[in-house]
Amino acid sequence: MNSIFPSILSTNYFNLESKLNEFNSNSIDFIHLDIMDGHFVDNISFGQRVVSAIKSKFKFKIDSHLMISNPEKMIPKFINSGSDWISFHVETKNKVRENILNIKDHNLKAGIVINPDTPIDILFPYINDVDYILIMSVFPGYGGQEFIDSTADRVFKIKERIKYEGSSCLIQVDGGINTSNIGMLKDAGVDIFVIGTFLYNSDNIKKTLNSILSRMSGV
Ligand code: DX5
Ligand code: ZN
Repeated sequence: MNSIFPSILSTNYFNLESKLNEFNSNSIDFIHLDIMDGHFVDNISFGQRVVSAIKSKFKFKIDSHLMISNPEKMIPKFINSGSDWISFHVETKNKVRENILNIKDHNLKAGIVINPDTPIDILFPYINDVDYILIMSVFPGYGGQEFIDSTADRVFKIKERIKYEGSSCLIQVDGGINTSNIGMLKDAGVDIFVIGTFLYNSDNIKKTLNSILSRMSGV
């Protein structure tokens, strides 16, 4: 599995197909889709029909990040749309464990997401249930924001807890990721990097992906 999951949020949607083709020819196997409801976050993006449309044309696995207030209502739709991984915010509080189990019962990977200002101990009861934890490195709702520096310390602490619990749960980060912070995040324990704006600002995806990968391996 390629540890870089491109987010399409900041793409020019008119050219989405050609951008996905470009990812496809550069060893990307997962696409991160940001689903926003205009309530949990101050923006609306797209819904399950976009997931199905991508799934019908491409072999990518789909990682759906639900930024929505009532994930329990929408998770079945995203399961049916062809998502392979689904994450939802732990701040929604209602039915967190039920949602995780529902996703896993359908043989999908289940993740929980935490905002930058939410205390990390809210995650601890679920560490043995989830497949991944998405640690937001910006406040959700917009692409192109500046990386929040305290993220690395949060990653380190959550990784310590995962090890202590003997869990195989992966850590994903999302927001403001680029070549200047990726090495430090990898060292802190991140397994998967969601990257949007930094990829779209590049006029050569192959070169940019290579420079990201080399930063990760400390070259
Ligand atoms: C923010 C989203 C991110 C975002 C990626 O709410 O969850 O996935 O598109 O962040 P950038 O564009 O900063 O890489
Ligand atoms: Zn996201």
